[in-house]
Amino acid sequence: MKLWSGRFGKDTDALVNDFNASIQFDQRLYKEDITGSIAHAKMLGATGIISAADAEAIVQGLQSILADIEAGKVEFTADNEDIHMNVEALLTARIGDAGKRLHTGRSRNDQVALDFRMYVREQIPVIVEQLLELEAVLCRQARKYQTAVMPGYTHLQRAQPISFAQHLMAYAAMLGRDVTRLEDCGKRLNLCPLGSGALAGTTYPIDRFMTAKSLGFDGPMGNSLDGVSDRDYALEFLSALSVLMMHLSRFSEEVILWCSWEFKFIELDDAYATGSSIMPQKKNPDVAELVRGKTGRVYGDLMSLLTAMKGLPLAYNKDMQEDKEPVFDAVDTVEMCLPVFAAMLDTMTVRTDNMRKAAGHGFINATDCADYLTKKGMPFRDAYTVTGHLVAQCTAAGKTLEELTLPELKAASDLFEADVYDALNLENCMALRASYGGPPGGGAPPPIWRRPPARSRRWRPSSRPIPNKKGDVPIETQGLYRR
Ligand code: ARG
Repeated sequence: MKLWSGRFGKDTDALVNDFNASIQFDQRLYKEDITGSIAHAKMLGATGIISAADAEAIVQGLQSILADIEAGKVEFTADNEDIHMNVEALLTARIGDAGKRLHTGRSRNDQVALDFRMYVREQIPVIVEQLLELEAVLCRQARKYQTAVMPGYTHLQRAQPISFAQHLMAYAAMLGRDVTRLEDCGKRLNLCPLGSGALAGTTYPIDRFMTAKSLGFDGPMGNSLDGVSDRDYALEFLSALSVLMMHLSRFSEEVILWCSWEFKFIELDDAYATGSSIMPQKKNPDVAELVRGKTGRVYGDLMSLLTAMKGLPLAYNKDMQEDKEPVFDAVDTVEMCLPVFAAMLDTMTVRTDNMRKAAGHGFINATDCADYLTKKGMPFRDAYTVTGHLVAQCTAAGKTLEELTLPELKAASDLFEADVYDALNLENCMALRASYGGPPGGGAPPPIWRRPPARSRRWRPSSRPIPNKKGDVPIETQGLYRR
């Protein structure tokens, strides 16, 4: 018999019973559910809403259920629909009438809102830890390759010389933002929905501050309708995971390119590559391809929750039961991708010889050639044109810029002197890009990874008008400014 069967004259249709149930997937929330129920029961006891003896019996009963679930001794049933009613039914079976008092002043609506919020909150440090481990791998590799010249690309065309370290540390910078995005989500979600009731609060003298505090929240959510119907935290979490996966996917794409014979900038360890069932020579970067592929499913998880939420009137609607699987799927995917990706990078062999060779072709020191002339007094735009002609001349002759003789260079401009060859040397070109964030500094791993301060001193709210040079307030922000 259903916990809610009171007003029904018939049993639930068997198809509906299964269709309606969420226990198949929400059993993952058993711990959060029991933790939340314990906090609720203690509060009911402390406020005198139930007797201290009943509260104690409930707490003991829930603890024994938790132990049994963890020991694999509990079977859940779709007849009890979801984790909340499964646990409650188990409790009443164990401790009798006291168990029936647990749900006083509470609804499954605030219960599920609490459980799910706590679940997301617990996943954040797990993923942050994995991100920091991946970041540590990048720092380790970068430390080894600070002077390894490779071509930097734009449009996937060789552009300017960089170090392999700088390339790796660009990803470390992205991961650093992923960390702060997740932590930011964690800060905003840390208000407690428990005590919102079904939607309108409750007539019992509950103490929401007490339950919020005992469950580690900063306080209770201020509006009970919002308390039961908010899933922003899950959406923020999924969007942070989507951005994170986008970063891994871009990196994967590069790993795949770098593994090709056309690049051969890296070789993956045999333990992190796979073979072909027909082509004996193949060594495929399946790990990177799968990470790239799985990015699509995490985006899909975000899109399904956004879409599920978009038309829902306040407050709870059963549609919201569909919130869990996308989040679970994204968590499983990300938590599987990060460690394997880190291990793949940790064990790769870096072919600095091939990077250097690739850097030697493609005129990636052409900007430096133009900069050389500019530093000797020629306007940059003219230097650019002179260098462009030299590149064309080299292309026709199958030469690099540094293979041109001084007389050949002088024919283009008499500002060229013997020191031009130093200026064109790729190692110099890279090392001299010492502007803040350039290869030497940008490629150096920080000695210890430090989280940037939560609020940078330079940050301003975007609504604050930024004065232009004359100190005027831009017209489009004046309205805001006046307010
Ligand atoms: N299994 C439900 C969910 O995941 C729990 C809340 C059910 N509430 C309700 N009023 N039917 O959303």
